[in-house]
Amino acid sequence: MDCRRFIRARVKEMKKTVGDGKVISALSGGVDSSVCTVLAHRALGRKLRVIFIDDGLMRQDEPQSVKRNFAKLGIKVDILDARKDFFKALKGITDPEKKRKAFRNCFYRTLGKAIKASNAHFLLQGTIAADIIETKKGVKTQHNILEQIGIDPKKGYGFRTLEPLKTLFKPSVRAVGKALGMPREMYQRMPFPGPGLATRTMGLVTPERVEVVRQACRIVEEETSRIRLFQAFAVLLADQATGVTRDGRRSMGHTIAVRCVDSKNAITARPTQLSWSRLVRIQKRLIREIPSVTKVLYDLTPKPPSTIEYI
Ligand code: XMP
Repeated sequence: MDCRRFIRARVKEMKKTVGDGKVISALSGGVDSSVCTVLAHRALGRKLRVIFIDDGLMRQDEPQSVKRNFAKLGIKVDILDARKDFFKALKGITDPEKKRKAFRNCFYRTLGKAIKASNAHFLLQGTIAADIIETKKGVKTQHNILEQIGIDPKKGYGFRTLEPLKTLFKPSVRAVGKALGMPREMYQRMPFPGPGLATRTMGLVTPERVEVVRQACRIVEEETSRIRLFQAFAVLLADQATGVTRDGRRSMGHTIAVRCVDSKNAITARPTQLSWSRLVRIQKRLIREIPSVTKVLYDLTPKPPSTIEYI
């Protein structure tokens, strides 16, 4: 793909579509929304307002580091604290698709309010080709494909969407990021799902349980940071499992599944062959740094028949 041509075409197209309108970008800090935001900023400048919805389901220190990194590119990001709303929306839900729906509804309610408050006419979204294919096939509903899940954004939420990356797969999105002059850490970032750590918390999604997953994901990411892989993360399983304390008492605790996969485009994936010593190091850190964890598992399933995330 000729990235410079792609950028020129999308910039021209966005300028024409938006005219004198205002655009809002809900930046998540992931590759897709980051590339999309930098691209739109090039086309629209001050007509673009960038917000980061803090849903409480992000990785460690994510909101602040995204804000800092975009400031370095001359793009201002406003953080919107919606943590309470998301945990309220997810309260009591254990069913995977219901979780996705609850997340999605809360996300668009929050965004709808932000759009109204800033009088924006367009919503910029980092939808890519794989999102559309997976949703069409009915594998799962991606929260970022509005029309496909039966929501008319103009009718229901009062704005239109701009999706400049929807024809691209991940490798091309990264290439566009590079061509836009973004730092490597931004366009080479690991994918992170829209519904965030809610997709990695089986069973109830509470602030306490999400904090366990957040710390577990941080450890897995730190321990695999030098390995070439597509995604590496941790999942908190729903049931408690038996452990034993140093003085021989029975204890019940959390089970963490570690998931590392190699993939080109997320449509298929294979478990990464981590060395035994690395797996043991991850296990030791999880047990030591998160005292409530009593069991650590490594997920060996490819996609298909599994998916990369757990919901
Ligand atoms: P699955 O679990 O379907 O994931 O094999 C494929 C890729 O998509 C990411 N993923 C999402 N990304 N919104 C997103 O933007 C979502 O709702 C979502 N669900 C999964 C996942 O991390 C993997 O890279």
